[in-house]
Formats: sequence, C-alpha cells, structure tokens
Amino acid sequence: MTGLFITFEGTEGGGKSTQIQRLAERVRALGRTVIVLREPGGTPIGEEIRHTLKHSQQNHAMTAEAELLLMNASRAQLVREVIRPALARRDVVLCDRFYDSTIAYQAYGRRLDLKTVRGIVDFAVGETRPDLTLLLAVSTTVSEARRLSRQTKLLDVPATGAEAHPVKLAFNEPLRDRMEEADRDFFLRVEQGYQALAVAEPGRIKVIDAERDMETVAAEIWCVVELVLLKS
Ligand code: TMP
Repeated sequence: MTGLFITFEGTEGGGKSTQIQRLAERVRALGRTVIVLREPGGTPIGEEIRHTLKHSQQNHAMTAEAELLLMNASRAQLVREVIRPALARRDVVLCDRFYDSTIAYQAYGRRLDLKTVRGIVDFAVGETRPDLTLLLAVSTTVSEARRLSRQTKLLDVPATGAEAHPVKLAFNEPLRDRMEEADRDFFLRVEQGYQALAVAEPGRIKVIDAERDMETVAAEIWCVVELVLLKS
C-alpha cells in the first residue's frame, strides 16, 4: 500500500467541500487514514496566509505577483509540514485545491506569465504531485450565482485539518473575500485555464460534471477514486 494524493479543483459553486467530506468518509470506511486539507491554508502558517489573501483589511492593494507568491508560500509549508509526512505514512490525502488553482487563477485569471508561474509552483512543491485531480465543473452561470450569494453571507468555515489550526478568524461575522471581488472576465479566464489543464493532462485530471445532484456526483467520484485506490 502506498500513500495517495487526490486534489479537488474547480471554480466556485462546484460543491467541492461537500464532495471531499463524503469521499473522506467512504475511504475511511475502508480502514484507510484520510487527511483533509485546503489551500491556501492547512497549516498554522498557511491559515494566516489565507487570511491575508482573502479577508485581511489590509489586502486591497495586493498585487498579482504578491498573490502568486503567497499562494505558493502557503503551499510550500503545507507540502513539507503535512502532505509529505502523510504520504510517507501511506495516508490518503484529500486537498481542496492545489497547484492547478494557481495555473487557473494566477496564470489565466490574473494573466501572469505561465512559464514563470509554473517555475514558482515547481519550487514550492518539488516532487510532490497529485496522483489524481477531480475537476468539479459547473457552468459560469452557476458559479457566478454561488459567488454572489456568498459575498453577502460569507462565513469562513475551515475544512477539516484546518480545524486543528485555529487562526484568528472571526467565525461569527461575515467576511469579505478579496478573491471573489474580481470581475466576470477574470472568472471566465479561470474556467478557460481549467479547461486547458484538463485537455493537457487527461490522465491525472478527471472532469466531473458537478451540476448534477450531489448523489450522482459522489457516485461518479467514487468510481474514479476506487480504481486509483485499488492500485495504491
Ligand atoms: P476557497 O477555499 O473558498 O476556494 O478560496 C480559495 C480562493 O483562492 C479561491 O478563490 C481560489 C483562490 N486560489 C488561487 O487563486 N490560487 C491558488 O493557488 C489557490 C490554492 C487558491
């Protein structure tokens, strides 16, 4: 048995958190140890970086370059502090976003140079790459509706794993999210980025139509993951 690293990707509104929790329960039922993480975040340092990136009152002037580096600072910490030790113990690691988000959001969305972005990602992750990536795809309309509704009632509820590292987040009050303040064209480019990634790496990235009901999506995810688990 080897460790297994599975990442979940996609624009807002694809139901990633719910599907990750469901998958975690299912894999645990097989007797495997499962770690659920999120990016940016997942370590005490990473959660502070997440706050700076998304919610801090000081982040209005953040440049795309600073954003790229902070995303990857959080990632470099998560890889070394949590992911590598977990994989060495042969755990199953489920991560809500990983470096495909950087390609989609910072290279395509923010229009930073793709080669430079890839170089920084490589530095942050080294040899630690996902075995499987599930891209939960929803239409622009669904994603946009979800984003807008979240902007009015946003609460930053941490994923499991982040719970172990409570950082000074104000859980009781709505928090503004700088990432979700970008314009429509930005999110259209992010979607194009994900599509390009899926075409370039069909072996690793499996596109799941996430507009269907939760049970159907969960069943399809399980079909894909089961195959990979059997080989791990
Ligand atoms: P989320 O945890 O609610 O999905 O918020 C994370 C936000 O950060 C989301 O808008 C996507 C964005 N993001 C990037 O722009 N680049 C990255 O590398 C990662 C991991 C996330």
